[in-house]
Amino acid sequence: MADTTVYRASTTAPVNIAVVKYWGKRDPKLNLPTNSSLSVTLSQADLRTLTTASCSATYPASEGDSLLLNGEPSDVSGARTQACFRELRARRAALEAADPSLPKLSTFPLRLVSENNFPTAAGLASSAAGFAALVRAVANLYELPASPSELSKIARQGSGSACRSLFGGYVAWRMGSAADGSDSMADQVAEAAHWPEMRALILVASAAKKGVSSTSGMQQTVATSGLFQERITRVVPENMERMEKAIAERDFAAFAEVTMRDSNSFHATCADTYPPIFYMNDVSRAAIRAVEAINAAAGRTIAAYTFDAGPNAVIYYLEKDTEAVVGTFYHVIGGEVEGWKRSVISGLKPTMSLDEG
Ligand code: ADP
Ligand code: DP6
Ligand code: CO
Repeated sequence: MADTTVYRASTTAPVNIAVVKYWGKRDPKLNLPTNSSLSVTLSQADLRTLTTASCSATYPASEGDSLLLNGEPSDVSGARTQACFRELRARRAALEAADPSLPKLSTFPLRLVSENNFPTAAGLASSAAGFAALVRAVANLYELPASPSELSKIARQGSGSACRSLFGGYVAWRMGSAADGSDSMADQVAEAAHWPEMRALILVASAAKKGVSSTSGMQQTVATSGLFQERITRVVPENMERMEKAIAERDFAAFAEVTMRDSNSFHATCADTYPPIFYMNDVSRAAIRAVEAINAAAGRTIAAYTFDAGPNAVIYYLEKDTEAVVGTFYHVIGGEVEGWKRSVISGLKPTMSLDEG
């Protein structure tokens, strides 16, 4: 009898926000980076992707694989999504070859339905949570015995930053040196429980889709920026070392300085790209000044800003400084700067959530 079963698996994946940024590919096909990077994984209680993968012999082969992203059909013919599907199917096919009693899921069309509960393509790491969820959902569907490291290598091929969203806590993506990418994957530097007081405040300056995607932006930077060479050979290796030490010692001032300097360095290479790329706007710059004011008022460093490829700020701080950071920040930014949507989402552990004003 024909198998009419619809096989299904769902998973969620978190966002991660880098404190030492990935920006540049040495191999765009395999998605291998020009430098290592390090991030903090945020709580899925606040920001997450939810993805359901299904497959069935009853799905028409003529329709092929498909992805419904936030309710809209999304193109899966791109080389990077295809690479993820190919890697996952090959692993499933190997299981099926070893055990002929298994249903031949690797031969069925895949349908993915995915939803982000935060702005997509706005510099809040939707590609990270998105591809981590995509890869894990299909791996679960195929019942693959794959480790997080192995899934990390597959997710990396979908979007570089996604390799870090397969782990919680403090996560490094080691750039590796192998030409085939076999040593370019994420590993956990420390569990969230190692430094459980860490918090992240997300300030949504604009939820609009960015003008220049991360993929395209970093390729323009690699091709045209002279400053970029300095960043990958000197700045980032030093920041990686300092950051790992700061995390090991739970030294917030050191963590904050490296975070802010690395964000500034990354955006400087964007400005040095020709023609220049500007991800930050006036509102972003006001957030930087607000963090400086908060730290000056405290007489020590209690808050750190970082910006991905978009205008939205992520502010790291420690739980005990919540009032000084979140309270002041909201007052300064929410009260005085035109353009803020006053959307405040907390990461790691929820501290506060405000409606849009
Ligand atoms: P971001 O700063 O949000 O990571 P990027 O330019 O890096 O922005 O990537 C955005 C792209 O990532 C989207 O246009 C889409 O192709 C992909 N993406 C985002 N969310 C998902 C998802 N849930 N599932 C699959 N792909 C996704
Ligand atoms: C600024 O991982 O989105 O957020 O590999 O081309 O999909 P692709 O790029 P992506 O780039 C992220 C860039 C960043 C820094 C970071 O997350 O490390
Ligand atoms: Co991205």
